Amino acid sequence: MLSFKLSITAAIVAALALFTYTEACERGLSWGTEDILGTKMGKGYVSWYWHWQDAANKYLDQRGLEFVPCFWGPKYQDKWNQRKKEMAHDLPKHILAFNEPEIPGQANMGPKHAARLFMQEIQPYAKKGVKLSSPQMVYKLDWLETFMDECDKLGCQIDFMALHWYGTHKDLTAFKKWISSVHKRFNRPIWVTEYGITSAAGASQQDIKNFHMKATTWMEQTGYVQRASWLGCFKVNSPPDSYASNKNAFFNGNGSLRDLAYWYIYTSGSNSKRDTIPHHRHQRSLPGMVHVPRSGVVHTDLDGATIIDDEDTFEPYQDIVECDDYCQLRKASIEKFEAKYGRLVDEEADDDEEATKA
Ligand SMILES: *[C@@H]1O[C@H](CO)[C@@H](O)[C@H](O)[C@H]1NC(C)=O
Repeated sequence: MLSFKLSITAAIVAALALFTYTEACERGLSWGTEDILGTKMGKGYVSWYWHWQDAANKYLDQRGLEFVPCFWGPKYQDKWNQRKKEMAHDLPKHILAFNEPEIPGQANMGPKHAARLFMQEIQPYAKKGVKLSSPQMVYKLDWLETFMDECDKLGCQIDFMALHWYGTHKDLTAFKKWISSVHKRFNRPIWVTEYGITSAAGASQQDIKNFHMKATTWMEQTGYVQRASWLGCFKVNSPPDSYASNKNAFFNGNGSLRDLAYWYIYTSGSNSKRDTIPHHRHQRSLPGMVHVPRSGVVHTDLDGATIIDDEDTFEPYQDIVECDDYCQLRKASIEKFEAKYGRLVDEEADDDEEATKA
């Protein structure tokens, strides 16, 4: 009888695991612009957001989005100390660890030091039921491996892996490969907390939108990319830096939503049949779930605000770079790992003819 009960329990547990495993990827925001713009973006499929160092945005909170605090790294210890004070009375569900630790201009830490700091600053929240991320990586798999090994020794709890990706619109294959390599090697759910197209890719607005749609659809289909946040929370005429294309922007210069944002907020991945709108925002019905290409049209969003198709009035980029330094480092890093562990990537991750032929 006991074993019968156990096997039923096991079956239920397996069924539940299967269910959560196939849940579509939740769309989020890498926040970093005027808070008031949150009133336009915190809608539809967008269910969560993070800021790499700062506090929650009250407008996004009012809309019921989940805020995910982040410990950027030692350089912004003071900011983290403020987050810790806030978390003392407002415990988050998730915390994101160090921002690009393998990059000198970013968190810039050794993996063993990072593991010790993780234990000291982030691990204490595991006991309170908070889910914790790996450091947010750009390319360096052996850094991540050393960190994870050290973490095993020290007893960190890494619930999910957090990744960033920037590249060209022609490189959807490389995007998939980066994400699926980390999933295969570390066998945890993935959050893609920043991604976008580089300036040097020389992409048109339509190229960027196509990439954005395909990447989102693919992530939703993997079953293991739990969350993703496109780096688009800025006005098209004031990008945070020149590395990523300003055409990744969700906002026009006057703060109105761009077509890219409209797609992200209101349109499900073209092959996804599942309605992924979080329950708390089900009250209002959404426009058609299938993406219809539009041009030169003025639209109205659910709050009556005007949305105008993105114009592409920019000069073509002069020095197109197909695979920049980070892209090459990422490629080499994956190849090194494959030499060590065998092929890390599913066949279908390479099966992206449209993108490679484009
Ligand atoms: C905001 O900017 C967009 C893009 O330049 C433009 O089409 C639109 O008319 C502007 N809206 C307002 C209210 O000024």
